[in-house]
Amino acid sequence: MSKPANDTLIKALLRETTPYTPVWLMRQAGRYLPEYNETRRRAGSFLALARSPALATEVTLQPLERFDLDAAILFSDILVIPDAMGLGLHFVEGEGPRFKQAIRDRAAVDRLAPPDPADGLRYVLDAVAEIRRALQNRVPLIGFAGSPYTLACYMVEGGASSDFLTIKSMLYREPRLLHRLLEINARAVAALLNAQIEAGAQAVMIFDTWGGSLSQAAYREFSLAYIEQVMESLKRENAGQRVPSIVFTKGGGLWLESIARCGCDAVGLDWTIGMDSARARVGARVALQGNVDPAVLHAPDDCIRSEVAAVLAAYGPGPGHVFNLGHGISQTTPPNAVKTFVDAVHEQSRAYHR
Ligand code: CP3
Repeated sequence: MSKPANDTLIKALLRETTPYTPVWLMRQAGRYLPEYNETRRRAGSFLALARSPALATEVTLQPLERFDLDAAILFSDILVIPDAMGLGLHFVEGEGPRFKQAIRDRAAVDRLAPPDPADGLRYVLDAVAEIRRALQNRVPLIGFAGSPYTLACYMVEGGASSDFLTIKSMLYREPRLLHRLLEINARAVAALLNAQIEAGAQAVMIFDTWGGSLSQAAYREFSLAYIEQVMESLKRENAGQRVPSIVFTKGGGLWLESIARCGCDAVGLDWTIGMDSARARVGARVALQGNVDPAVLHAPDDCIRSEVAAVLAAYGPGPGHVFNLGHGISQTTPPNAVKTFVDAVHEQSRAYHR
């Protein structure tokens, strides 16, 4: 398989020189785009959309038609793993994801097994292959999965939660039970990421959306340790090309040094930490991805441009920065704001790569 025509993302993740700072947005395919809502309506539901490789390909490419993005990200969801384990994923309007079966006791954990991606998650791998064909090597395709702990949050809570008291009770009362569950999730995540890489994903990202809700000690023991386990079994190359990995723990800024040692090539940052201090702390070891507050995309164009300028200046000159938001784009974002954001990164970043 040949290199993408635009391989700035891969180079930046490996801290190699690029002519400008590559940019993509977490959740760049989604409800803020009217064409996404139209395809979703045709599919009937979010899950039907995610399970159709043809429609998943269509929505993956939609943001690339509008904006000069340097990467595509697979259209799927982190919750496809617990769904393939038989937990019965569904979405309740206005409340987010729910599982029919929550995992609350030893018997429930013992019934779980990591799904074979080639079997229960075939549609994800078919989408990866179809997106690669449709992209025709324009830009690289990012594959992804949730972190073992973030998946466990949804599996144990049975859906979204504001305080995570059910999983945290398990963590403190029955730590060995939670470890058993995390062990299964880590094997499932590694298998799915490796299968995505074999199907054509050119970089992979782990979304640890809820690791930041833990204490420092619990984060290391219950989230980071299992991210490390995934990293140890990850394929690092496919078809002669390096496949870089990104780890994003939302709220992980305090623990950057330990995250940067987990075996990843790049660390994703939310907007609560300065790019300058992040680079000073770990920039010699990993690339950094981020980190504009997604709310900035609700401000006027001048403000968007100055926030982009501030993050570029904070990172400073030289390679190793992938521009992004600090979390997913909100569904009320005006699409024109995304164009301003992406173009501002390209225009302003060349000065930092001479
Ligand atoms: O970035 C992309 O464009 C790729 C697609 C992607 C989706 N989900 C599509 C999606 C990615 C990378 C994800 C990851 C994901 N899913 C995470 C980690 C990232 C993060 O934002 O922290 C999490 C926690 C989930 C779980 C999940 N799936 C939630 C909380 C929701 C929203 C529920 C709601 O109704 O608000 C989803 C559904 C979902 N996944 C949507 C999209 C575009 C919206 C569904 C719709 O069309 O109704």
